[in-house]
Amino acid sequence: MSEKSTQLSPEKALLEAKGKNYKLPIYDGTLGPDVIDVRSLSGAGTFTYDPGFVSTAACESKITFIDGENGILLYRGYPISELAAHSDYMEVCYLLMNGELPNQTEKDTFIATIKNHTMVHDQMATFFKGFRRDAHPMAIMVGVVGALSAFYHDSLDIKNPEHREIAAFRLVAKMPTIAAMCYNYSIGLPFMFPLNRLSYAGNFIHMMFDTPCDEPREPNPVIEKAMDRIFMLHADHEQNASTSTVRMAGSSGANPFACIAAGIAALWGPAHGGANEAVVNMLEDIGDVSNIPKYVARAKDKDDDFRLMGFGHRVYKNYDPRAKVMRETCHEVLKELGNGNDRLFETALELERIALEDEYFIAKKLYPNVDFYSGIILRAIGIPSNMFTVIFALSRCVGWISHWNEMIGDPQLRIARPRQLYTGPVQREYVPITKR
Ligand code: ACO
Repeated sequence: MSEKSTQLSPEKALLEAKGKNYKLPIYDGTLGPDVIDVRSLSGAGTFTYDPGFVSTAACESKITFIDGENGILLYRGYPISELAAHSDYMEVCYLLMNGELPNQTEKDTFIATIKNHTMVHDQMATFFKGFRRDAHPMAIMVGVVGALSAFYHDSLDIKNPEHREIAAFRLVAKMPTIAAMCYNYSIGLPFMFPLNRLSYAGNFIHMMFDTPCDEPREPNPVIEKAMDRIFMLHADHEQNASTSTVRMAGSSGANPFACIAAGIAALWGPAHGGANEAVVNMLEDIGDVSNIPKYVARAKDKDDDFRLMGFGHRVYKNYDPRAKVMRETCHEVLKELGNGNDRLFETALELERIALEDEYFIAKKLYPNVDFYSGIILRAIGIPSNMFTVIFALSRCVGWISHWNEMIGDPQLRIARPRQLYTGPVQREYVPITKR
């Protein structure tokens, strides 16, 4: 992969629209496609039109790079496969937040700081009681994370980089505690306090599965590593729907905890973070490998809105590099737990094999994405499917807050305010109700 060196390209993009000519600047990123700067068009009475932001770079960022054609994902320049093999979630959090990998002292200090913030204010517990016992844990999480803004609003000056950093520490540290509280509340068990002698992933497993009646169990190292990898692989993914939502909400200067709650809401949908829950439901529906051709046929049928969940991606037109790591982790976890013949995993492997050989999926470049295997791992660990997206939110929080911080720290920040192609009625006169 060659690295480009300049920012402003000597070339210009020429646009002719309705008899007017425009010379638009072009920027080169260090990697990836060039970007045409269309900002001058608004003053000239013309907008660009790009629903779903398919061809639009909404911001400049130094955090994460994806090359979808070649299946490459870099966090601050480091390939995800190398990070998954040699690093861990705490190191990745440091990297995303600070731009560089930590040395040992920096890492130890970072972990100690995170551990300092793992507890939530005791009053937070009362928020949970306002939710129906059977509420979806994502519904609870949106509300409770948004409510953090009530605890840390007056003391937070978003223009102050140190305040922004403390907000990031708080979020990364408290997300596992809140996620486990969402789970325990939904099954009627008491909330568990964090156990700071454990690792980040180990502590989450402890808060999910230990109870106050028994001594805390030592987390199984294979499960702990798998959980840490799930966190790592979901930590960031450049300007996806939820991250863009956090940026959009944050561009008005809103409280960061409220912005993260907005990101959680965007993540919830089945086209985004809700997909791993949908994958497990789909594999359960398929039931047996003999039914796969029927479901593949449905996915290809234009008159059927069924899609193969966990397949396809807006950016990846090749195998999602995270799905490869997930597949390996899936093997490790199922072997450790003694269910190497897991029916769902067998169905997933066979579905992947059939789809990857099918002309429809080849032509549309539809490959398994990160969510295709993550749900199987989580299910094997004993996590119910309605918690899958909560775990995604927990993992992605560091990405969201790193993007928010990058945006707020940018002196050129402007409120995000897209325009539109208006196709409604032209101006008309109001008609009183008696005359309609
Ligand atoms: N199964 C069957 N066909 C599919 C699938 C699928 N999973 N995904 C896309 N297609 C088809 C579409 O029908 C469309 O066909 P057409 O060109 O004939 O109309 C074509 O491929 C392009 O699909 P779009 O929906 O236009 O692609 P887009 O980039 O907008 O959507 C998305 C990407 C939402 C991820 C889509 O592939 C999808 O719905 N996948 C299933 C849900 C999923 O796994 N989401 C997780 C994404 S990863 C993440 O958020 C962590």
